[in-house]
Amino acid sequence: CGIVGYIGKRDTQTVLIEGLKKLEYRGYDSAGVAVYTQEGLQISKSLGRLANLESKLEGAPLQGNAGIGHTRWATHGKPSDVNSHPHTDHTQKFSVVHNGIIENYLDLKEELIGQGYVFVSETDTEVISHLVAREYDGDIVKAVQKAISYMRGAFALGVLTEYEPNKLVAVRQASPLIIGIGEGENFIASDIPAILNYTRNVYILNDGEIAVLTKDAVELMTIEGNFISREMISVDWDAVTAEKGGFDHFMLKEIHEQPKAYRDTMRGRIDEAGQSVVFPGLNLTEEKIRSLNNVHIVACGTAYHAGLVGGTVIEQLVRIPVANDVASEYRYSSPLVTPETLVIVVSQSGETADTLAALREAKSKGAHVLAITNVVGSSIARDADDVIATLAGPEIAVASTKAYTSQLIAFYLFGLYLAQVRGTKNSDEVAHVIAALQSLPEQVESMLANVDAIKAYAEEIASHQNLFFIGRGMDYAVVQEGSLKLKEISYIHSEAYAAGELKHGTLALIEEGIPVIALATQEAVLEKTVSNIKEVKARGAAVMAITHEEHVTDLLRSVDQALSIPKTLPLLTPALSVVPLQLLAYYTSLARGNDVDKPRNLAKSVTVE
Ligand code: G6P
Repeated sequence: CGIVGYIGKRDTQTVLIEGLKKLEYRGYDSAGVAVYTQEGLQISKSLGRLANLESKLEGAPLQGNAGIGHTRWATHGKPSDVNSHPHTDHTQKFSVVHNGIIENYLDLKEELIGQGYVFVSETDTEVISHLVAREYDGDIVKAVQKAISYMRGAFALGVLTEYEPNKLVAVRQASPLIIGIGEGENFIASDIPAILNYTRNVYILNDGEIAVLTKDAVELMTIEGNFISREMISVDWDAVTAEKGGFDHFMLKEIHEQPKAYRDTMRGRIDEAGQSVVFPGLNLTEEKIRSLNNVHIVACGTAYHAGLVGGTVIEQLVRIPVANDVASEYRYSSPLVTPETLVIVVSQSGETADTLAALREAKSKGAHVLAITNVVGSSIARDADDVIATLAGPEIAVASTKAYTSQLIAFYLFGLYLAQVRGTKNSDEVAHVIAALQSLPEQVESMLANVDAIKAYAEEIASHQNLFFIGRGMDYAVVQEGSLKLKEISYIHSEAYAAGELKHGTLALIEEGIPVIALATQEAVLEKTVSNIKEVKARGAAVMAITHEEHVTDLLRSVDQALSIPKTLPLLTPALSVVPLQLLAYYTSLARGNDVDKPRNLAKSVTVE
């Protein structure tokens, strides 16, 4: 979910709506605002996209100088008008927006009902508004403090009351929240892009902190009420970086930003001569690196797929055992972690609740945890022992592209660094990989300059209901991501199979005309992959192969069509081969008339477990 809040001289409704537009990637089941108007606290909310709320407000505007807004991704209670935020209490004097989950809300709800409070929604959030109302005794800050002392879980809150309309109270407890500082106005938001149009000065709240905003000042304190001071950060992101910048969709823009993201992520991490990798400021000492026994890589979704590539990279370069797991499983699997285990968590947002919980589990068992993340001030970055930032810039489209490839670059660099320290690759070998890495951005640019063939193929598959991806080794890791991308935004059912495993069951699903996309870039297993291609061809599949130029002619004897990608080292191929698969997903989604950037049922950042 996304929260925004405002207090100051501007038209509050506009600030809230503009802010929420920038947060829609956090969820968009429903949206709402509460504004303190001349008639008191007024709430307007609406099911569905923010546009619905916007048109509702056009018909019945709310004018005032303080307000809170919310865009929701349903957790407790289905998406509906009544379950949308802001929530209020029975007196309608208090209103609350909330991101996260109140774990003990059912107990609290029962208690409040027993005391005569009447509930109208199914949400956990409504409990908070009643609690604040119950505890209110003339001081909204104290009431909020008392209310949260009863609450267990993860939450970020914005609270407004009609009794003290010159104050906006914000709380952060394990869900992200920032404070924007203006002149004669102040803001709260789940994420920085929401306020960038108004100010670049922010405080990042820590867990267990409260901010009290008036139009002229911001006071920070702990949940217990002890005042604290915080350094103000000045955000140097360009406001347009968070906009579409001339492309039809954020996803396409982000695909095209990949060469820059590769360069930015490599910047400062390769010495000038291109001979070695450097990671200044890492807490993981060389001594510690030499003592490592194993590596775990833990993440969700696309970041998990980046970890699959990363795992192979580390095993190949460092010859140390690596295990990959999805965060929601890892946490409950009693992981075999010792102080000699390095746990790498991968997260674009740095806020994924499953990944954060896995990180904490690993840390509690004594592992050194390194986070690869795109958001440096995020919860995951702050809890990890070390952070490697992927410098992809803000990623808005729900389907992740540049964050994934930047994660690959981070793994290549870090794998090389481990190999240097442990001496598993000599300096010539390291320099050889570095040179190939440095060529990747230009190679991606060349692929992006010519997308006609993939676009045509997308239009061809758009009418199908099922399709398959196959590949071996690195190609298998990449097709898993390609298949996920396609599912996320085209809604076509697809499966990614290790090419050699197909015959052990899935071949039963191959029938006349079914599209099969074969990624065949790994020369060491090329012939084997060709055999698997023949197996599906023999059952009527229509095969598209993606390979290197030099193999196209040969492969065309076994497949229906082929596309080529530039040549790099086998280990680095994923950073190139995923690009046509991203484009395929994009153009297929487009051909099917879907909402590319905001696929149904999905959210960019999932801050619930
Ligand atoms: C959500 C998104 C996915 C993303 C996953 C992990 O499910 O829809 O696109 O891969 O979370 O997100 P993270 O921010 O941790 O990389």
